[in-house]
Amino acid sequence: MDKNINAVKIYSAVPNDGKGLVRVSRITWLATYPNKKFGITVKDLAQRAEFEKERIKRWRKNIKENKNRKTWVAKVRREIVGFCGANKENNTHEIGAIYVLPKYQGKGVGKRLIGKAFAWLGDRKNITVKVASYNTPSIKFYESVGFKKAGVVKKSQWHKLPSGKLLPEIMMKRVAYKQQKIFLKPSQLIAMIDYPPLHSPKAFTTYRKKFKSGSYVEPIVVIPIKIVVENLAKNKTRYNTYKKTLEQFLKDHPRAKYFMTGGKHRSAAATVLGVKIPSLIIKNDADVNGVNLLIDNGEITGVPPVNENFNKTLEELEEHFFEHKRFWTMDEKVRAMIENGDI
Ligand SMILES: CC(C)(COP(=O)(O)OP(=O)(O)OC[C@H]1O[C@@H](n2cnc3c(N)ncnc32)[C@H](O)[C@@H]1OP(=O)(O)O)[C@@H](O)C(=O)NCCC(=O)NCCS
Repeated sequence: MDKNINAVKIYSAVPNDGKGLVRVSRITWLATYPNKKFGITVKDLAQRAEFEKERIKRWRKNIKENKNRKTWVAKVRREIVGFCGANKENNTHEIGAIYVLPKYQGKGVGKRLIGKAFAWLGDRKNITVKVASYNTPSIKFYESVGFKKAGVVKKSQWHKLPSGKLLPEIMMKRVAYKQQKIFLKPSQLIAMIDYPPLHSPKAFTTYRKKFKSGSYVEPIVVIPIKIVVENLAKNKTRYNTYKKTLEQFLKDHPRAKYFMTGGKHRSAAATVLGVKIPSLIIKNDADVNGVNLLIDNGEITGVPPVNENFNKTLEELEEHFFEHKRFWTMDEKVRAMIENGDI
């Protein structure tokens, strides 16, 4: 067996994966659910195997026909070692199942699988999942990807085993990230002093192509000017060294509304093309957590644009502007890039 984590690849499931999915489910159930306190026995769990043909059929049908459901499989060469299934519902989305073979657990496979589900489900609706109440490791796993405990599932809905025994379940919920994306003009953005040189001409070209073809481009992260300036002013001695420059700059640039925290290549690409820049406004720790979740789930890529909390993110900006003591808007920065022949 190849336990090398690089050997694990994630794919969208195809009907033929049905058998492999059910195998992973059987092995993992047996390793996870036996419990003395609740009287859940290995024998009872093993008896589920008698119904496997039916379940394989159901999986195959589902993968083939149900457009509101999607399944991803983790494979090492041809062997399925984990899977995750998600359902789109009208009000709340749902993670239906996620199982990773015991030998492959704790290596990030679960996180990669659920990341695919998050990207497919989007972040506009809450996502729920039912978990056996005593399955502490998986409760910890769900917490690590943004779920919180959200009450007990009604006994009548608990999962029934062949003997009639019920698996006690709780509900967990991942609240939708309500932060709305907005589209900003380069003159509205105060850019960082991180040019010249252009760090990655390749990234610039890639973003330019994406904007041109209308593909999805991850948002940049911005903070309203008032919040940043209040924070800069807190460090009085340092602030006094560039206060006048900043005040004059803001007077001369009345359109500027937000400080950027990163995203220089994509914003430069958008500016050159005259496209508005997709942006997320952050104002507090909850917003920063939201952005960090999007990063964890692979929905925002590139350099993390925020630190672990809002204050640290502001401190980073304070450090940056104390070092440079000058300011420019995104359109001014891009003009410099064009004049220097860099883009
Ligand atoms: C739950 C499960 C899908 C997680 O998949 P995994 O590949 O093992 O998890 P990952 O390695 O991606 O872990 C991601 C994070 O979850 C948390 N986590 C995972 N397993 C954990 C454990 N046993 N205890 C505490 N935290 C855990 C950690 O925070 C981890 O992040 P870190 O490694 O950076 O600290 C997998 O362990 C599994 O199949 N378990 C048995 C079946 C099951 O319970 N399924 C859920 C049914 S509702």
